[in-house]
Amino acid sequence: MINQKIAALRQDYKQATLDEQDVAAAPIPQFGRWWEDAIQSQLEEPNAMTLATSTADGKPSARIVLLKSFDENGFIFFTNYDSRKGRELAENPRVTLLFFWKELERQVRIEGTVSKTDAAVNDEYFYSRPTGSQIGAIASPQSQVIAGRSTLERKVLELERVFAESGPQRPENWGGYLVKPKVMEFWQGRSSRLHDRLWYVLQEDNSWKIERLAP
Ligand SMILES: Cc1cc2nc3c(=O)[nH]c(=O)nc-3n(C[C@H](O)[C@H](O)[C@H](O)COP(=O)(O)O)c2cc1C
Repeated sequence: MINQKIAALRQDYKQATLDEQDVAAAPIPQFGRWWEDAIQSQLEEPNAMTLATSTADGKPSARIVLLKSFDENGFIFFTNYDSRKGRELAENPRVTLLFFWKELERQVRIEGTVSKTDAAVNDEYFYSRPTGSQIGAIASPQSQVIAGRSTLERKVLELERVFAESGPQRPENWGGYLVKPKVMEFWQGRSSRLHDRLWYVLQEDNSWKIERLAP
């Protein structure tokens, strides 16, 4: 038996189309166009994306992180290198990033490999954050089991004292990852489930092949 109330939830998508002749020749410029649309549409947290990782033996996990920058080299997010995702990325650098921009009836899938960003990039972002977020990042042993919330709050108080004069220092285990794409798919919702899907696949000669996928 399926839950009929849930099963009846559906949306017909009619806002836009995605055509081979209109898209950019490479996926990051195409992402840039859709990114501008997301900004113009004033979406809430358009930079929230699902990051899927997996262990070396293929056990997957996913969570939301925030896109903090993108350019022709790829997509950057920041995190704790000792977190579960950090440990999985150390074993297996292959990732998927996923954006769902509901109001635009759009989905973007990015598949590629990560590398750690340079200390200069990590510093630039870390020191641009509010002090509270810097202290929070230092205080939290991300993904570890802790005794209770008070453990964290005590640690924050202690760090506030320690860093009262010097200001927080970026810990070595906190920084960014750059996702370099090999495949990117752009999905535009269309009516009656006949959605438009175009994917870009990186070729040996570093050019991009664009193909249409069945919805
Ligand atoms: C909207 C939103 C934004 C988030 N942004 C980040 C982020 O940029 N970096 C990060 O490490 N965690 C972020 N998180 C928390 C992660 O989803 C996750 O709980 C955390 O990174 C631990 O994941 P892990 O145990 O799989 O490593 C965000 C969560 C939400 C809901």
